[in-house]
Amino acid sequence: MDSKAIEVAKTYFIQTFGCQQNENDSEILAGHLEQIGYLPCESPEEADVVLLNTCSIRENADDRFFGHLGRLKPLKQKKPHMFIGVGGCILMQPQNQEKILSSFPYVDLIFGTADLGRFPDLFFKAADQRRTHLGVGPAEGVFSDLPMVRKKAHRALVSIMYGCNNFCTYCIVPYTRGRERSRPKADILREVERAAENGYKEVMLLGQNVNAYGKDMDYRDGDFASLLAEASEIPGLFVVRFMTSHPKDVSDRLIKVIGEKEKVEPHFHLPLQSGSDRVLREMNRRYTSAEYLKIVEKLRKVRPEIALTTDIIVGFPGETEDDFQKTLELVEKARFDAAFTFIYSAREGTPAAERDDQIEREIINDRYRRLTDLQYALSLESNERQIGKTVDVLITGRSETNAEVMSGRTADNRLVHIPLPELSQSPDNAEEYYTNRVVSAEIVAAGSFALEGRLITL
Ligand code: SAH
Ligand code: SF4
Ligand code: F3S
Repeated sequence: MDSKAIEVAKTYFIQTFGCQQNENDSEILAGHLEQIGYLPCESPEEADVVLLNTCSIRENADDRFFGHLGRLKPLKQKKPHMFIGVGGCILMQPQNQEKILSSFPYVDLIFGTADLGRFPDLFFKAADQRRTHLGVGPAEGVFSDLPMVRKKAHRALVSIMYGCNNFCTYCIVPYTRGRERSRPKADILREVERAAENGYKEVMLLGQNVNAYGKDMDYRDGDFASLLAEASEIPGLFVVRFMTSHPKDVSDRLIKVIGEKEKVEPHFHLPLQSGSDRVLREMNRRYTSAEYLKIVEKLRKVRPEIALTTDIIVGFPGETEDDFQKTLELVEKARFDAAFTFIYSAREGTPAAERDDQIEREIINDRYRRLTDLQYALSLESNERQIGKTVDVLITGRSETNAEVMSGRTADNRLVHIPLPELSQSPDNAEEYYTNRVVSAEIVAAGSFALEGRLITL
């Protein structure tokens, strides 16, 4: 690049909070900005355009966002030409739009979760105005063929559907992402094919409820089982992942595909939320603990090595010690390989937040600790069973904590650290060389969250 280009090049910085779908949305926002001529940069301090793509799933996510936004104020005072845009789930809620308009006047644009297609229009409109432009559209429509800059070197995120119809009584997502809309199958498979052609070895099919894929189109393009089966046949891929599934929509067809298709990940993330049937009913989850365990049994039957992971909420309103015991019992029975455990967070506008039987913080903290103690022990046991095995590992990059270690994931999504002392001699090249490669490693040690592997072959 000549010096003139460096002088005129404008830069952007996107901070993303929340789930993989939000990350994928940010990849589209980055695609638009690069098409307009902006280049990525490393921090808001250097950036001409700063976008915050937000998450509203728990209260601390909201707090973090407003904290970040507050810290941008002095920057904007120093660089008045800096453009600040805020979008995503928090901004789908009218009270948050009001809060920005009244208390954060230095924001240029407010956009929503379904404004990805018209983002450039909104951007130019807002840039021409002195006041904050409220550009939030309804949560409708699906997106294909938008520009996209993929952030991860090893994983292509592919949204297959948007929105959620389930209205779990604690959850904000149906209000921020609207009703379920599936993308046409041909568009999805084309995107997967392109990713594979571009060298991606891992594809992750995304949606709030992926196994309801196609329902909104009367299965015109088939169901999730057939989409997953077809995606897994695309040449060049190491693994096809999918997030997130709902237990009530796990069909026998899907279980069959998981059993038969080698490239479908031998891992299933199936949020449980609670082991108590009473709590499940009040959460509007529409399955029982027995039905959940039945799915676990079927999955282990068709694919014995499958890793099962889950999400659990502790302290849903009205949860008794007896309810919580049932969660512990179910965790023991299902023997999850890993679990994400969350403390219940009341979200304004959801039915559960209105209840007057919210659980005291000390009780929740105690239950949370007992649940995580149990799960860490189970995760450790599960990981220790891997010792001595030789496994394929897709290298995702250098370890964040040790420059002489490369990290990666097995097909069943276990994190593996592989020491490679030569890395310190040729730092950048070695990292580039290994990332996105599938290597063979022998597992030599295990902890609750990760394995240690010894490199065998490339
Ligand atoms: N659509 C996915 C993921 C939703 S968000 C699904 O249905 O599983 C990811 C997880 O966050 C949920 O599975 C749930 O365990 C947790 N979660 C959602 N709302 C929450 C709330 N209000 N408080 C605490 N955890 C919550
Ligand atoms: Fe939220 Fe339930 Fe939909 Fe998941 S399925 S996004 S928890 S409402
Ligand atoms: Fe958060 Fe919205 Fe995803 S609330 S978890 S960013 S769908």
